[in-house]
Amino acid sequence: MTDAVVISGVDKTFETKGGLVHALEAIELTVSEGEFVSLIGPSGCGKSTLMRLIADLDQPTTGTVQVFGRSAREARIAQDYGIAFQQAGLLPWRTVAENIELPLSLHGVGKAAREARVNELVGLVGLSDFADRYPDQLSGGMQQRVAIARSLAEKPRLLLMDEPFGALDEMTREHMQSELGRICAETGAAVVFVTHSIPEAVFLSDRVVVMSPRPGRVQQIVPMQLAATSDRHDDMREEAVFFEMITAVREALHQGSPSMVRGVENR
Ligand SMILES: Nc1ncnc2c1ncn2[C@@H]1O[C@H](COP(=O)(O)OP(=O)(O)OP(=O)(O)O)[C@@H](O)[C@H]1O
Ligand SMILES: [Mg+2]
Repeated sequence: MTDAVVISGVDKTFETKGGLVHALEAIELTVSEGEFVSLIGPSGCGKSTLMRLIADLDQPTTGTVQVFGRSAREARIAQDYGIAFQQAGLLPWRTVAENIELPLSLHGVGKAAREARVNELVGLVGLSDFADRYPDQLSGGMQQRVAIARSLAEKPRLLLMDEPFGALDEMTREHMQSELGRICAETGAAVVFVTHSIPEAVFLSDRVVVMSPRPGRVQQIVPMQLAATSDRHDDMREEAVFFEMITAVREALHQGSPSMVRGVENR
């Protein structure tokens, strides 16, 4: 089995007018095939930067990133993964259905198969009645759901998700968490997931990577001692072991200075 993502010795420094910004330091992280890994850490610790390196939207200053055994660049060209990032990134001149359909049309999927898949996906994200609307006619949370549906269109082996549920209300958010868990179990996709919510990370993950404040380092990796991710249900949110895992992640976050927990939600 090839690992989904292997990050070795990665440093990232940005040159800015105000001088060098050391965003990431000595990052080592391997995500196995089918594994769900969350990144959590204070605002500005380099989570989005790390995701951008995996997606080859930027390059490390030193070190290497491999996706399914290829360089990040080769993986991007081969489109080995689906992406849903902080901003929805929808095309404003295309309807909801046309946005979701885009990766499928780019890969030459036939019309009937595209329509069937789009129908399934708009249903999944609760937007069946909005398929013909344009993004500017939707709320921020609805736009995010379109982006999530689009990232799932091709059933990718790897999903890169940077705070994909940030703009959703709590009810929708929990629903999408359960759905994402179910989709991953069904498709066997590996996921790298950024969140500021400890319970969200716990509910979804096999392992939670706790990052330090800038320069971002892997401070601790907390394995979730819970049922297999394919076997998690909403009831788990009320179980003692769920709260134990929340405490374990929170304590890992607190290991630095008290200011470490800024920008991390405990809800
Ligand atoms: N293109 C860039 N040029 C200069 N500095 C950058 C650039 N991108 C990110 N940074 C800096 O790198 C650091 C890490 O940013 P990043 O967006 O990765 O943080 P984050 O952990 O995703 O934060 P948040 O939780 O707020 O989304 C920040 O100090 C940011 O200002
Ligand atoms: Mg970010």
